[in-house]
Amino acid sequence: MNIQWYPGHMTKAKRAMEESLRLIDVIIELVDARAPLSSRNPDIDRLGRQKYRILLLNKADLADESANLLWEKWFTAQGCHVVKLDARSGSGMRAVQETIQEACHEKIERDRRRGIQNRPVRAMVAGIPNVGKSTFINSFARKSCTKTGNKPGVTKGNQWIRLNRNVELLDTPGILWPKFEDALVATRLALIGSINDNVLNREELAAEGLRFMQDHYPESLASRYEGAEMGGKPWEALASLAVLRQCLKKGGEPDTEKAAALFLEDLRSGRLGRITLEIPPEENR
Ligand code: G4P
Repeated sequence: MNIQWYPGHMTKAKRAMEESLRLIDVIIELVDARAPLSSRNPDIDRLGRQKYRILLLNKADLADESANLLWEKWFTAQGCHVVKLDARSGSGMRAVQETIQEACHEKIERDRRRGIQNRPVRAMVAGIPNVGKSTFINSFARKSCTKTGNKPGVTKGNQWIRLNRNVELLDTPGILWPKFEDALVATRLALIGSINDNVLNREELAAEGLRFMQDHYPESLASRYEGAEMGGKPWEALASLAVLRQCLKKGGEPDTEKAAALFLEDLRSGRLGRITLEIPPEENR
């Protein structure tokens, strides 16, 4: 499937991120647990070379728990500090705080040895659009009582949210873009709803999604759409779903476009169960 979408703000956002990077010690990178590699920014390793790094597998509540565990193990083996998170409910937030301390342990110790006290570790959140950056920052801010206001050297408009004695978080996330050139990556991002639907052919996308579900989660399809024939060719399954849900055109023809929208919404919202679209490279499935 060919997805044509070139975000116009990329250069500006990248520059803003680079500016913010000068102010911080640790990058908290968010990815979508349903597609952790596809939703990862390809530049982040280069940008974050000099920084401590934490990776949050966000929306873990929507992802397959067995896959979450595989990803946790895989990223840990790559040397990342990893936390599974549901930023919407706040589940996992405490582990994030602990992991920040752990990841920055060296700096905290160094400061302590030099007699520097009360110098909090400074963090920023980064990730591609829609991975949950704002939700995470809001949740983080709710737990802390203070915004510390503008400080000298802070990028204009930015504020620091003080979580506790040890950690301050920049309230503006770093936005970067995924690897759109890779069609498979783009398809996965579209399936999890990270790409605006208006630029896509929904029926083609739904057919891709159905094919994946038939291969990996056939029971979820069968139980959600009981009464429809979901096992056949994706286009036929879509037509059968249209009939089941009474998405019909004027002459009684199945309205596969409507059915596609319905299926994609079910897939993205978790109504089809907890789903992960990709697993770590070494794990065959
Ligand atoms: P961004 O800043 O990275 O662009 O993402 P943002 O926080 O705006 O989150 C994008 C969508 O993902 C929001 O849903 C948000 O509620 C949802 N979300 C964020 N974290 C999680 C999570 O851990 N689990 C789940 N299930 N959802 C999460 P929305 O539909 O766009 O908005 P709303 O309906 O929540 O208002």
